[in-house]
Amino acid sequence: GIPSISSILRMKLCRRASELAGFRGTVGFVPTMGALHAGHLSLVGECRRACDTAVVSIFVNPTQFNDPKDLENYPRTEEADLKLLEAAGVDFVFAPTVEEIYPEPDTRVFDFGGLDRVMEGEHRPGHFNGVGQVVSRLFDIVKPDKAFFGEKDFQQLAIIRHMVRGLSLPIEIVGCPIVRDTDGLARSSRNLLLTPEHRRAAPRIYEVLSDAAVSLRGKVPVAEAKRLIAERIDANPLLETEYIEIASAETLQPASEWGRAAGDLRCFAAVRAGTVRLIDNVAI
Ligand code: PAJ
Repeated sequence: GIPSISSILRMKLCRRASELAGFRGTVGFVPTMGALHAGHLSLVGECRRACDTAVVSIFVNPTQFNDPKDLENYPRTEEADLKLLEAAGVDFVFAPTVEEIYPEPDTRVFDFGGLDRVMEGEHRPGHFNGVGQVVSRLFDIVKPDKAFFGEKDFQQLAIIRHMVRGLSLPIEIVGCPIVRDTDGLARSSRNLLLTPEHRRAAPRIYEVLSDAAVSLRGKVPVAEAKRLIAERIDANPLLETEYIEIASAETLQPASEWGRAAGDLRCFAAVRAGTVRLIDNVAI
């Protein structure tokens, strides 16, 4: 008969936590929800360069989806993902069932020190608590020395750093730059769900954000800049801004003036393109 995918892989495919054994040297970990693309693969590349053993998880975590429709529609492309990870030289893939991660419901409530009260936290209630649940569980299982996260989800990266400090976990969190398509659109698993028309409209988001960094910063008040950025994105009838925020890259707290914030500023956007919700951010 046809050999199963796991029998032709060099890397080890694990469905259970107990199968994750035999790690060599320093262990690097890249948690994902699958439907892998060049953004994920850049994290895997960083992980391989920095560590002796590379572990990648594929798990669509139900507890971080505030919208059941979003969970149902989330793309699942496991066979293609496994081929990509094999070719990328990954050593272990952990692709567990929901029961393996949550043998009983996870009722833990995390305190992210206010980092979760703005932007994605404000617009997706419970989302970051679910991220905290799954990432802490995965860290507990994999016990990595380093874990790699993308700046695409800048707020998530800040929240994970906060969680690791708060729990005193001996894990170095490594942030990796945003990988974009040639037209500027940030790579995302959700891009697969865009209609061709919405896909053609979506690069507008980064175009407006990156232009604002030069044409608006310091030239108009912050509140006016946010309004103008939203207006420029929404000028395309296929796009609808959910929020534009200009905030401290450190604390994620909204800035009211260009010069007054602690440290660097970033501009964050959440935009609806039809039924698909896209996020992006740039230094400003
Ligand atoms: P997922 O959306 O699959 O993303 C996995 C990792 O890839 C995250 O750290 C994310 O920031 C990074 N990533 C996604 N697109 C990227 C891009 N265009 N450039 C650089 N990095 C990118 O984020 C999650 O999954 C989940 O919340 C998870 C952390 C796995 C917990 O369930």
